Amino acid sequence: MKKLPELITAQVQEAFAAAGFDPAQGQVVVSNRPDLCEYQCNGAMALAKSLHKNPFEIAEAVKEQLAGNEIFAAVDAIRPGFINLTLQPDFVRDYLVKMLHEKKFGLELPAHPKKIILDFGGANVAKPLHVGHLRPAIIGEAVKRILRYAGNDVTGDIHMGDWGLQMGLVITELQERKPDLPYFDENYTGAYPKEAPFTLEELSEMYPTASGKSKAAEDASPEEKEAAAAYKARALEATRLMQDGHRGYRAIWRHIMNLSIPDLKKNYDSLHVSFDLWRGESDVHEVIPGMVDYFRQNGYVHESQGALVIDVTREDDAKELPPCIVLKSDGAALYATTDLATIQERMREFHPDAIYYFTDKRQALHFEQVFRAAKKTRLVMPETELRFVGNGTMNGPDGHPFKTRDGGTLRLEALVNDTGEEMLSRIREGNPDMPEEEALRTARTVALAAIKYGDLSNQPAKDYIFDLKKFMSFEGDTGPYILYTIVRIKSILRKYEEQGGDVKGALLSDAASASEKALALQLTRFTEAVESAVSELAPNRICAYIYELANDFNSFYHETKILAEPDEGKKQSYIALIAMTKKILETGIDMLGFEAPEKM
Ligand code: ARG
Repeated sequence: MKKLPELITAQVQEAFAAAGFDPAQGQVVVSNRPDLCEYQCNGAMALAKSLHKNPFEIAEAVKEQLAGNEIFAAVDAIRPGFINLTLQPDFVRDYLVKMLHEKKFGLELPAHPKKIILDFGGANVAKPLHVGHLRPAIIGEAVKRILRYAGNDVTGDIHMGDWGLQMGLVITELQERKPDLPYFDENYTGAYPKEAPFTLEELSEMYPTASGKSKAAEDASPEEKEAAAAYKARALEATRLMQDGHRGYRAIWRHIMNLSIPDLKKNYDSLHVSFDLWRGESDVHEVIPGMVDYFRQNGYVHESQGALVIDVTREDDAKELPPCIVLKSDGAALYATTDLATIQERMREFHPDAIYYFTDKRQALHFEQVFRAAKKTRLVMPETELRFVGNGTMNGPDGHPFKTRDGGTLRLEALVNDTGEEMLSRIREGNPDMPEEEALRTARTVALAAIKYGDLSNQPAKDYIFDLKKFMSFEGDTGPYILYTIVRIKSILRKYEEQGGDVKGALLSDAASASEKALALQLTRFTEAVESAVSELAPNRICAYIYELANDFNSFYHETKILAEPDEGKKQSYIALIAMTKKILETGIDMLGFEAPEKM
């Protein structure tokens, strides 16, 4: 279905042509003076320059051609040469009715769905999820839902970090604590125990402990420094052995995976974040040697200071890009190697048109190198789209990366739980009669909206201050405000039905008041918001749209007696308008990855 500005533009372009001007100048945009008009065309000014004519006269001539056009209630030529347009209420109403009859409110869907892989989440196994993993998860999930809504074939892959040094650190620490376990007995040939030799809790403590032991502070004594270096060397060796297939270490690796993954799932569930694939770096381990051979045979790699690298810098680079390292001088694979091998496997298995990555923006250089190397080595087609969506840092109130009160990194679980608890006391306060179980559920729902909207309303690449107090407010540009608006509409619709009204059967009439017309016009803009969110991979576009829609609804609500309206036809129309508002707001928050409660 054509978008409203396109329909209006077509009319204005015709008028430009009829007045003898270039129709290309008839482009119409949303008015920047909503107090004067709804849409505007600035083409007369551009034409005036090239034709050496008075812009106002051009605007007047176009206006004359539009006289009697039935979609406009008013066309004004305004000095120096603006064409101001106001639409007929029945034209807007017909458009809304058509939106309601179409699938997805008339959003144009692609004839051939694009196959897209989203690489997001990026959790590291054996390390607890902390707030740094919040943004890639929330943004990735929202983009997944937005792209799916827009008709694409999307597969989300968590791409776990499950093959690195953290595994060797845990193995080393386990050996320190329980050297007699069969995993460490080189002569042991029997089967290993099914049960892990540690609990999840012990595991989450073991990694930070081991990591601490492998690093010495700057002011540490030489002995301490030596001990840390020795410990780290052992962990590196354990990592290498595990990667090369050491039986016992692989068994420990499996224990770590078996404990960690369900815990990660639980954490992501609580955020309403899910993945179609739970693959990781370990899944491509076996294909790396073949890929490296292929690079060698085709002359894509060369040695540089002992390492095997792919040159990726281009002549037009302002600054030379360092080469992409495929193998270190000791033959070890690196982060870039697993990413290249993963691209190869994704192409083989899924033939995607695009792969989008979501991580901290500090990984931008890494992805630029990997993308260039993948193109150069033809792991992907020249037309395969590889895109990196780097997120900015979530900062604390002091403007530095978010920390707990005692300066540690905050566990994701703690953040979600704390927010839920604070929200619970607010919900209880506002709804003293709400049953406890419902209050709990509502608090969790609203808290999640507060966290997610607080994040998603910022451009992904921007740093932002995690201000929970602000995010949890029921007023302003916040998740709870959007939810509150939906809850308000639900309550009106419920009352209308209790009075015997039929919400589904309510018919829309022409808007009469200014706030009603503004709300109706805002509803027509839904598909424009979705399209820009899709092309920019920007959930913040959806946030901005639903925030404006919620504002327009609330202005209308405060100026209008909806249920007390004596004219039955008018009342029905109000109901139809706000029911549509609710549907679009709900569609919007669903794309963002949260939902609204019944009451709050
Ligand atoms: N595990 C990585 C990290 O915590 C993120 C992985 C992102 N995805 C990728 N294909 N490299 O930094």
